[in-house]
Order: sequence, then structure tokens, then C-alpha cells
Amino acid sequence: MTAPVVIHAPEEFRARCDLARREGRRVGFVPTMGALHDGHLTLAREARARVGADGLVAVSVFVNPTQFGPNEDFAKYPRELDADVARCEGAGVDVVFAPSASEMYPAGDQTRVRVDGVAAPFCGPFRPGHFEGVATVVARLFSLAGPCAAVFGRKDYQQWRLLDRMVRDLFIPVEVVGARTVREADGLAMSSRNRYLSPADRLRARVVPEALSLAVFAYASGERSVDALRAMVLEHLSARVDSIDYADLRAPGDLDALPATLDLDARAVLAVAVRIGATRLIDNVVLGEERAPISA
Ligand code: PAF
Repeated sequence: MTAPVVIHAPEEFRARCDLARREGRRVGFVPTMGALHDGHLTLAREARARVGADGLVAVSVFVNPTQFGPNEDFAKYPRELDADVARCEGAGVDVVFAPSASEMYPAGDQTRVRVDGVAAPFCGPFRPGHFEGVATVVARLFSLAGPCAAVFGRKDYQQWRLLDRMVRDLFIPVEVVGARTVREADGLAMSSRNRYLSPADRLRARVVPEALSLAVFAYASGERSVDALRAMVLEHLSARVDSIDYADLRAPGDLDALPATLDLDARAVLAVAVRIGATRLIDNVVLGEERAPISA
């Protein structure tokens, strides 16, 4: 495979994507913050599958400052562009776009993008400003990439739904694709933040896919009470994590509130956020649609 072209300047990235479309090629785009793992590479392969062998697949690597809160891990977030470019080569990526913060947020910049309803539940109250930062940077990235298929991981379910809402509301000509979560052998969802876990904490982290799996099994056995499903997840988590931000259920599309008792054939997103040591982990499963992260 040939090494991807690394582009730093936003205008050059835009020109590269425009040229590909003029040549009749489709553009597939995977926005990331780098520290790429197999989950990201699966997104790049999904982008390739969408645009075909002659399409252009681009991955952006940008640790976006506006989506981190003051006490979050912006400073220590892993930055390893050379290794990321090498990983992209193995996944058939054509272009790596790695702008600087001053290129993505030029002096005098005054525009932010805020999505309301979808941003409100789950992580919303625990990470004030986070989704505004995500929507703002992704709107800018989409504006540079132009019409394309953009692939996001469903591990960040709320982010995926929010960006889908954003492109629909702003008539942005991008198809937002949600790719299934890629998991480690023990069920833990792949995440760039897993590397922060100590070996002991990494073992404890298995409790997250376990708790989600319990709910999948209960749902499959007929449990439809939202409170009962939530309580069983909280109980399983609370014995082994250091703190729980939330375990909650919402409707899959725009994350609307659910009735107390779900219909027999209802689908519901069960999402959790916990802290193990200093690491915050999120995960989710769609009840009525997905298999358990850990088999029985
Ligand atoms: O999921 C991520 O890595 C980031 O939130 C994203 C979508 C690249 C925006 O910075």
C-alpha cells in the first residue's frame, strides 16, 4: 500500500477533495483526534467500502481544544502523528489531514455550532460545552471536505446522532455513517483513552460491557421497565467502578425520552459513563437491535 499524503493546510485539503470529486471519485472521510487504534481503522475501511476502490479516503487528525473542559485531558491527550500516518497506510487511507489549532480556529474566529436536544441527555450535563466544541469543529471539517460520506464510531453514540442531526438541520451535503463499535476480546469498547488504564483498572473495566450485556439479556427475556433495566446496570457497575456519571436509556434517533415501559418491539439506547481510576469510559448498546457485548 502507498503511504498517505499528509496535508496540514485547510485550503490544500479542500482542494484535494474538490479535485477528487471533479475526477468523478467519491470522498470518504473519517474525522479523528488521532491516537488511532483498530476501531478507527475499521472506520477507514468502512469509508473505503462506501466510496469504492477509486474513491478518496481521508482521515483527519486534530485534537480539538474546544471540546475539552478545563479539567479534562486536553494537555495529556496522546499526539503521535507519525504513528497515526503509518497506521493509516495499512488501512488504505489516501490523505491524512492534520491541521494546527490556529488553522482550524484562526485569530478573530467567532462562530460556534450548538445542537440542542440531542446534546441534552447522557454526557450533556457532565461535559458542558463538549458537544458545542464537537459540532463546531466537525462543521468546519465538513465545510473543507465538501460532499462526502463521513464515518463515525457508534461507541460515541450521542456524538454520532448529534452530527447526523447537525447535517440535516444545516443542509450540509454529508452522509453521516455510524459504524458498529469495535471491541477488545473481553468486550471492552476500543478507545484512545483505554491506554490510560493501569493493568488492574483495565481488568476492572470489563464491568462496563458486562453491565450492558446483562441489560441485553434481560431485555431479550422480556424486561421492558426502563427503571428496572437502569437499576440492574447501576447495581452491576457500582460494585466495581469508582464513580458513575450516568446509566440511562433513550430513544435511538434524536435521543428523546422514553415511556416508563417500553413497547415489546421498542428499541432503546442504553448508554453509560463511568470513571475507573482517573479514566472516564463511555459505552452503549441498542436494546432490541444489537447483540450483547459479552456473550452469555
Ligand atoms: O470522536 C472524535 O474523535 C472527536 O470527537 C471528533 C469527532 C474527531 C471531533 O473532534
